[in-house]
Amino acid sequence: MALLICASDRDTSRLAARVAAMAPGVNVRNWPDIGQPEDIDFAVLWRQPPGLLPRLTGLKAVSSLGAGVEHLVNDPDLPEHLPLGRLAGPKLASDMAAYLVAQVLWHWKGLDRFAGQQSERRWQPWTPRHTPTIGLLGYGHLGQACARAFQALDLPVTAWTRSGQSIDDTVVHSGASGLATLAAQADYLICLLPLTDQTRGILNQRLFTTMKPDSVLISVGRGPHLIEADLAPALEQRRPALAILDVFDQEPLPADHPFWQHPQIRITPHCSAITRSDEAAELIVESYHRVRKGLPPLGLVKRERGY
Ligand code: GLV
Repeated sequence: MALLICASDRDTSRLAARVAAMAPGVNVRNWPDIGQPEDIDFAVLWRQPPGLLPRLTGLKAVSSLGAGVEHLVNDPDLPEHLPLGRLAGPKLASDMAAYLVAQVLWHWKGLDRFAGQQSERRWQPWTPRHTPTIGLLGYGHLGQACARAFQALDLPVTAWTRSGQSIDDTVVHSGASGLATLAAQADYLICLLPLTDQTRGILNQRLFTTMKPDSVLISVGRGPHLIEADLAPALEQRRPALAILDVFDQEPLPADHPFWQHPQIRITPHCSAITRSDEAAELIVESYHRVRKGLPPLGLVKRERGY
């Protein structure tokens, strides 16, 4: 029995060493040194190389190394009934909340204007007149943590989810009309959705026309949520007036991409919340122990729903 950690786009040797130190009896393998593939009963994967999954014939479960699972859900080599989990702990959620609060406050409190004023030695107090409403697309583990962070600042939060089921006091909308209602109310519309067939392209011209004038779009889920070609015309109409984008169709964003130069677009390089190796190691060990006991891995994904 062995646990495999594999991320084809980064070095996971320190993470694997951490997991091995935390779970002394566990045989930990770090890709590409996978040893006998049939020994591996649990694999934690991120951008798994094509052809890896069919070699892992002894798998009892797999987990995404991050919060997103679309690289696994869409992999035709992932056996249909194999339990699939994901790693999304409290630190990931608070990192995301910190990023979003920082972006919203920077904009709402008009902090960039003071940098310019300081360079001119100009004393010109300014404070926003309105309290903005935060609209969250997606209200899972990350969305709820972000809502709590905004609510702690007394900023009203509404959310939109697939089911519309309310989880706490936050108002939750669903469906196409719920989406339009939320977009019309939100000063900051934040996309935290998982990427599924239903959410791909959800940030599109139709949604933009329902957005509150002069609102801000913040996209931190996945690049393909946004129809990129629809954004510039929407910015011209100031619905939204600003887009803060952390995720893109193509990452890294190509140097000649027009978004880099657009005065109403702010870019961060997919770093709003990144799985930290200390938290990931703890979650991997816990998830592996669960699988060994015959329980589902942490963050069990409903395959038919896609997240
Ligand atoms: C990051 O994008 C993740 O899915 O964890």
